[in-house]
Amino acid sequence: MADLVSHPDEVRIISARFGKGAAAIDKYLELDGYKAVQKALKMQPDEIINEVKISALRGRGGAGFSTGMKWSFVPKESAKPKYILVNGDESEPGTCKDRLILEHDPHAVIEGVLIAGLAVGACTGYIYIRGEYRYLVDILRKALDEAKAKGFIGKNIFGSGIDFNVYWHTGAGAYEVGEESALMESLEGKRGIPRIRPPFPAVVGLWGGPTVINNVETIASVPHILMMGGAKYASYGPEKNGGTRLFCLSGHVNKPGVYELPLGYPMKKLIYDVGGGIPNGKKLKAVVPGGSSTFLLKPEEAEAISCDFDSFAKRGEFLGSGGVVVLDEDTCMVNFALRVMKFYQHESCGWCIPCREGTDWLKKTLIRFHAGGGVKKDIDNINYLAQNMLGRTFCPLGDAAAIPTMSIVQKWRQEFEDHLDGKPCPFESKKQIPEPAFA
Ligand SMILES: Cc1cc2nc3c(=O)[nH]c(=O)nc-3n(C[C@H](O)[C@H](O)[C@H](O)COP(=O)(O)O)c2cc1C
Ligand code: SF4
Repeated sequence: MADLVSHPDEVRIISARFGKGAAAIDKYLELDGYKAVQKALKMQPDEIINEVKISALRGRGGAGFSTGMKWSFVPKESAKPKYILVNGDESEPGTCKDRLILEHDPHAVIEGVLIAGLAVGACTGYIYIRGEYRYLVDILRKALDEAKAKGFIGKNIFGSGIDFNVYWHTGAGAYEVGEESALMESLEGKRGIPRIRPPFPAVVGLWGGPTVINNVETIASVPHILMMGGAKYASYGPEKNGGTRLFCLSGHVNKPGVYELPLGYPMKKLIYDVGGGIPNGKKLKAVVPGGSSTFLLKPEEAEAISCDFDSFAKRGEFLGSGGVVVLDEDTCMVNFALRVMKFYQHESCGWCIPCREGTDWLKKTLIRFHAGGGVKKDIDNINYLAQNMLGRTFCPLGDAAAIPTMSIVQKWRQEFEDHLDGKPCPFESKKQIPEPAFA
């Protein structure tokens, strides 16, 4: 089990049961578990959706789309069965929160699935777990068995006359299957490549049936919203950015860890107060605000921004998945761009040309460039290649590879200049991010 951290500014809603043994159903029940679903059973589907809309809960998987709105897109009548699909693929570099929820509070996810199902008229749920998180399967399987034994899932749940099954499923370790349509392909037993949209999953999803796909943290927030009321939950964050979220703080900070903070929390406080600042008194160079797919921030940008979806959207950028990576002054940004691109090149499913070829060319160019073989026009070419991937790929993985690359070239151009003319990397003597196993 990962060590838990804490800070006085934390508002513990999703993490309230962490470290309390709530993976066992009796403890979960003692801590008010499965009360929210019993409340939902007495509500009309539209009332549940409305409460989630009032909460201003936005998807914690990265895109920040309104959860209540997403649920309302599911047609009321459907000839095909409807499904709830929980995205526990969690492969975005820097993001490590869903695993904590599944480890410490798996029943909250199961309860969230049931409530989402009651809201949209689905009676089957799937919890899809990242291939590398196999150890979580045992925890989840046990939680599902316990819930079934108590009559909370399976036939006639809570004596309501409703049959509702919830299943677990694992991937085989591909980042791409975190993308919702590739996830459905994978769950159906096919190669994990994305589907053409529209139609969107809310209308045509798993096995052609209307499907709600939500991130683990999003779904685990739902029982809390029903218990405390949407308005109370919304009040923790700024307008239209309801509640708290789990921030995964890593990189060059003294106190890395997963902290639950209200949306709108200042990034500066996150780094210096919650994270205890940068080790060895080093200066801040860059911040990855929400997983490697987001635009990197310069110190003055990071120190001025609040961590909510709209503060980032105003800049044309993304809050992302909650994976905040702090980089100190010794980090080589060319090497960092290369490290990130190695990941995307490795994870590209290879289906569309701009992503398959673009990530490969960018990786090759950055390897040569970082090794001292760069020429001046490479700098613009790297930016140009990335720009040409943006918005031109079949799924957003191409954008995810382009965005950090463009922001690094544009904001730390001088570091590229400093690598020219066969010069050794200026940061050669400093400790850098370890090489990935697949590089
Ligand atoms: C390449 C790629 C990988 C993704 N990986 C994840 C992931 O691991 N977990 C996740 O919840 N969403 C991931 N997403 C976003 C999902 O497609 C989808 O938007 C999300 O699961 C919706 O849930 P939410 O509304 O609760 O955020 C990924 C998207 C892309 C393009
Ligand atoms: S953008 Fe990349 S990951 Fe997405 S479909 Fe194209 S090749 Fe596959």
